[in-house]
Amino acid sequence: MREILVTSALPYANGYIHLGHLVEYIQTDIWVRAMKAQGHQVTYVCADDAHGTAIMLKAEANGVTPEEQIASVKASHEADFSKFLINFDNYHSTHSEENKQFSELIYRRLNDAGHISTKDVEQLFDPEKQLFLADRFVKGTCPECDSPDQYGDNCEVCGTTYDATDLKDPHSTLSNATPVLKTSKHYFFDLPEFEQFLKDWTRSDNRLQTSVANKLQEWFEAGLASWDISRDAPYFGFQIPDTPSDEPDKYFYVWLDAPVGYMASFKNLCDKRAGTDQALDFDRYWAQENEHKTEVYHFIGKDIVYFHALFWPAMLAGSELRTPTGVFAHGFLMVNGEKMSKSRGTFIKAETYAEHLHPEYLRYYFASKLSDKVEDINLDLEDFMQKVNSDLVGKVVNIASRSAGFLVKKYDGMLSEVCVESELLEDITKTGDEIAAAYENREFSRAMRLIMQCADKANEYIDAKKPWSLAKLEGTEQEVQDVCSVAINIFRQLMVYLAPVLPELTNNAKEFLNLKDLSFASRNEWLLGHKINKFKPLMQRIEEKDIEAMVEDSKASLTQADAPAATESSKPAAKEKAPVTNADAEQTDYIGIEDFAKVEMKVAHVLECNHVEGADKLLQFTLDVGEDKPRNVFSGIRKFYEPEQLINKKVICVTNLAPRKMKFGISEGMVLSTGEPKTGLTVVTLPDACVVGDVLA
Ligand code: MSP
Ligand code: ZN
Repeated sequence: MREILVTSALPYANGYIHLGHLVEYIQTDIWVRAMKAQGHQVTYVCADDAHGTAIMLKAEANGVTPEEQIASVKASHEADFSKFLINFDNYHSTHSEENKQFSELIYRRLNDAGHISTKDVEQLFDPEKQLFLADRFVKGTCPECDSPDQYGDNCEVCGTTYDATDLKDPHSTLSNATPVLKTSKHYFFDLPEFEQFLKDWTRSDNRLQTSVANKLQEWFEAGLASWDISRDAPYFGFQIPDTPSDEPDKYFYVWLDAPVGYMASFKNLCDKRAGTDQALDFDRYWAQENEHKTEVYHFIGKDIVYFHALFWPAMLAGSELRTPTGVFAHGFLMVNGEKMSKSRGTFIKAETYAEHLHPEYLRYYFASKLSDKVEDINLDLEDFMQKVNSDLVGKVVNIASRSAGFLVKKYDGMLSEVCVESELLEDITKTGDEIAAAYENREFSRAMRLIMQCADKANEYIDAKKPWSLAKLEGTEQEVQDVCSVAINIFRQLMVYLAPVLPELTNNAKEFLNLKDLSFASRNEWLLGHKINKFKPLMQRIEEKDIEAMVEDSKASLTQADAPAATESSKPAAKEKAPVTNADAEQTDYIGIEDFAKVEMKVAHVLECNHVEGADKLLQFTLDVGEDKPRNVFSGIRKFYEPEQLINKKVICVTNLAPRKMKFGISEGMVLSTGEPKTGLTVVTLPDACVVGDVLA
């Protein structure tokens, strides 16, 4: 029996849970349930990420203390998770005694080992609020393209990343005051000292997905920098211990104590379970010398890889604790092929979804889309309805509803003493090994495909035998019972296979099938001479009107006030995140043909081309790309062209880029040019003979 500790990233305590978050919690929960069903001892912990400026300000805006603020958000998060059947063994908070102790312990060990240094940092300061301003709390004019109203880390119009101090006419988003530069002492964790350790760690023992390991390689090449782990008062967090008493208090940056929250939540659980038969030994999971006795896995989104694959293992190694066995990153959720959008009603709260639709529909749909890759996943609402209705209602539940009735009515619920199709049942029992492996490897979409193939076989069998016609003939009692018993046995195998994804449905089926458990091993014992109970409908079809109502509600419910606030911590500063890769770098980063094939480029006819008021770098195109409607595309080439020069030309448009909302409207593609924005860009034009809408390959 393996001993496994699993975590999902800790959601911020300043916003609600939405469907994007649920990709992660559902993915982790399915994995945990599947591993438990295979007989391993798995512990799944999580917590609210409660610290930081954003939470402090949110509490202030709501007129409550930060403690009250985080308590009410935690309650609402837990309510949402329980609706979606996320079965944490423990849900804690980073604002807890355990977390304070471990954060201090780790910091002291790092400090004693010489991994902490201090440096004066000059930063924008809000003189009215008396607060240092994180990048997301400063706005101003982009130093590169002069677009007004841009955040302190990057420009949404031209995409340039810069330092907040580079913004022209900066103002604080908190008070509107003009920030001043102010210096204060900051504490740094010496990440570069861990470079060799991290390089070895990254490449060993299959800890990371290949694409994540490659990303890290890029970061190593760009060079690691020391990490600023302190923040000045006022800050909602833990005070850094052992700082000189004649200096102002310093606090741990929220990302320092956030991952420590995994350990804190686990410790909290160990304490709760002490002395019971489910007792857990903290050191067995976290002491360095036990690294190979137990396993620790972190499920995270692709946006927080830097924190989990660099800072966190370095912090743990530097403080002589064990490092994670694996870090599993997933992609982001798209809805109907686009980023979630408030105006389209596709920014959907977990709570709003659950008011209209059963959470298990979403669990199944996500499972059918998830793989072990860091790819974005698309919730296409039409496809969602069809897939759930046809797979779960049409294929799976149908097997039981077609056969249980006969057995209960005519045979008092008794299944035959022998299986008349042992080859078929053998085959489906065997497929279970492949399904178990697919779950373990996080290839859930493959698991769902295999399960549906089993369901197809069952339905083909029932269709061929037609028990409803057989039952009308004389002398077929035994045969009808045998056929229905085969069907019920296959259905039971499917319930075992689907249990990690559909815990509620399969639990109801367990009652009706009169079973003790749905563990993977249980399926090896077929149901012969076994009595089942009366069949109850297990799942309703999704109706289009429920989806429509959910979308309408989402449009209505997302007022500015409760939209997720820009957080200082939701987005690591550009410097801490992926260093921007240098386009002129010597080395070619090869991509596979399948990556190239993802980019769709089409011949486009320029119907209109115009200046954009207020944007001195942009031209606006109206492009015919052979679709029903022309597309609106912005391009940063105004300095190099007069619009007339481009009207009527044939150009190349990238047509499957996610639409980008810009200050001046939505850009629905990209016009290809060559050169450099600084020195000159030339739009690639095509010969007139090219046909509009044709794909370039
Ligand atoms: N508080 C940090 C995590 C600290 S872990 C020590 C955080 N919180 S979050 O609330 O913004 O996100 C929680 C998790 O949900 C992250 O793993 C994040 O990647 C994931 N997702 C948030 N929005 C998402 C989508 N739209 N799609 C998929 N996953 C998303 O980050
Ligand atoms: Zn700009």
